[in-house]
Amino acid sequence: MCGIIGYTGHREATALLLDGLRRLEYRGYDSAGVAVLTAGSPARVVRCEGKLGRLRDVLEREPLRGHCGIGHTRWATHGRPSEANAHPHRQGKVSIIHNGIIENHVELRAELVAAGCTFSSETDSEIFAHMIDRDLARDGTDFRAAVARALGRVRGTWAICVIHDDHPGEIVAGRHNAPLLIGLGTATDGAHAENFVASDVAAILEHTRRVVDLDDGDVAWVTPDRVALFDVQGKPVTRAERHVDWSTVAAEKEGFKHFMLKEIHEQPRVISDALAGRMSYEQADVSLGVDLAVGNIKRIVLLACGTSYHAALCGKTMIERLARIPVDVDLASEFRYREPIVEPGTLAVAISQSGETADTMAALREAKRLGAQTLAICNVVGSSIARSADQVIYTHAGPEISVASTKAFTSQLTVFVLLALHLGKRTGKLSDEVIRERMTQIAAVPEAMAHLLGQMPAVRTIARRYMHARDFLYLGRGLGYPVALEGALKLKEISYVHAEGYASGEMKHGPIALVDENLPVVVMALRGPGYEKVLSNLSEVRARGGKIIALATMGDRDIADQADDVVLVPDVDEMLQPLLATVPLQLLAYHIADLRGTDVDQPRNLAKSVTVE
Ligand code: M6R
Repeated sequence: MCGIIGYTGHREATALLLDGLRRLEYRGYDSAGVAVLTAGSPARVVRCEGKLGRLRDVLEREPLRGHCGIGHTRWATHGRPSEANAHPHRQGKVSIIHNGIIENHVELRAELVAAGCTFSSETDSEIFAHMIDRDLARDGTDFRAAVARALGRVRGTWAICVIHDDHPGEIVAGRHNAPLLIGLGTATDGAHAENFVASDVAAILEHTRRVVDLDDGDVAWVTPDRVALFDVQGKPVTRAERHVDWSTVAAEKEGFKHFMLKEIHEQPRVISDALAGRMSYEQADVSLGVDLAVGNIKRIVLLACGTSYHAALCGKTMIERLARIPVDVDLASEFRYREPIVEPGTLAVAISQSGETADTMAALREAKRLGAQTLAICNVVGSSIARSADQVIYTHAGPEISVASTKAFTSQLTVFVLLALHLGKRTGKLSDEVIRERMTQIAAVPEAMAHLLGQMPAVRTIARRYMHARDFLYLGRGLGYPVALEGALKLKEISYVHAEGYASGEMKHGPIALVDENLPVVVMALRGPGYEKVLSNLSEVRARGGKIIALATMGDRDIADQADDVVLVPDVDEMLQPLLATVPLQLLAYHIADLRGTDVDQPRNLAKSVTVE
């Protein structure tokens, strides 16, 4: 969850580290800090509780000079947010930053305390500084080996960067179940040599597109002109270099007030990108760059968390309807604890924007252990989940910075439609004619969505009307149900207003007791098989005084009599309705949060990628 950056090279490190941390702040914002090293003097550490702006202010007043440094933005796990618990942690001549959780830190800390170490924080991470410092005091000067020995003693998850006062220009980094990559500098002459370490490519995109992803268990020794990789036993390993295509502009706000708003407006393009080059009208087929041996698939299990889980719920209906393969959807955080049955012929699909969600990773590993064929649907290229699965389909949504996921969701839905068509062709359940018709329908979605986004100022008016409500109920039927869940999740996470998503038909089994004149009820009332029943639900809510915000199909003239507010959505095939219906719900949550003055892009207590279980 925390963000990590390291730099060694010819430039002043502090500004570069701060800029990288700004791009990583969405990973955690409980505290931030840097350690910068100049040859001949001890590294200087500056840390601040709270957001990065506070650290920047301090560094402007007291600049740190030096050409090698490490920076960290924290999402608290062990130890409350405070300056003392902020990284880097320093002991002797060692400064460290860490993302992850050390499971055996209690026993290691006790051992270190018994040996005379004094801890200055409540974190699990500080043990690294003590272990490496003691090791070097005992065993001499092999800095890299001391870090590797410390990593060999811990259990849990880590991405770590370490610098040492006596080793200016050197960073030793390591990873296990937490993302970390090396950015290779582009200089052709020694005087301008530089290299980077980062938890996320967004932090270094401005400086290089040449990246090496570390694997679990790797230790990297990085200097301005060299990168050498080893395992914790010191055996050299090699990892391939890759080129990153994401544009730096994609990681900026481009005039929008928040990243979330920008990312909502990017969705028409994102859907086009997810479709690009994948549909062949001539062959009436979808090519996803994977070979799934469809004839052997008896069952599909979709594994995901949060918004990706809601996309998976839609994916279930799409695949079952179009390919007639049974699909189960599991919350990744529950999957491995319920002794799942994974029979031969199971395809397990992990869905994750970041590709780093620890629960989803653990579920994927469990499915693999139990013999499933595995597939990942990820946005971040080269992410841990993408690399762990047998095969991967990328969603091509570009960097998603806002903690609240928006464009990643609609890109996942797009991939699910494509996957359902791909499977349906191979199970023989879809004729070429139907496939072509469905491809034409989804190809029209970006334009319909762009049109819908043009109508959306009306949503701010609705948001203003309901912004003080304490609770919201979101109702949907069929594919509208996961959309209702997603709408409620968006509102909760960024506006801190309680919201519940419910299947419309379940309302009469309990939640109807909540309905009174203070409860706004957001209803998916789009034309389709369940439409008449949804109208009955609207009447039930109205009869009890509830306020109704209905999402209805353009051209529906009856709905205005049934609802207090109506948002009209372009008429598309039922299977594609989630793609469009989600947009007004994202905007409703966004405007309510903005009007209430919350921190839209970095809501409290959350982090963009949840790399702890
Ligand atoms: O990166 P992932 O898709 O695996 O993330 C899963 C959830 O943590 C994520 O969707 C979370 O629920 C978002 N904050 C929702 O907006």
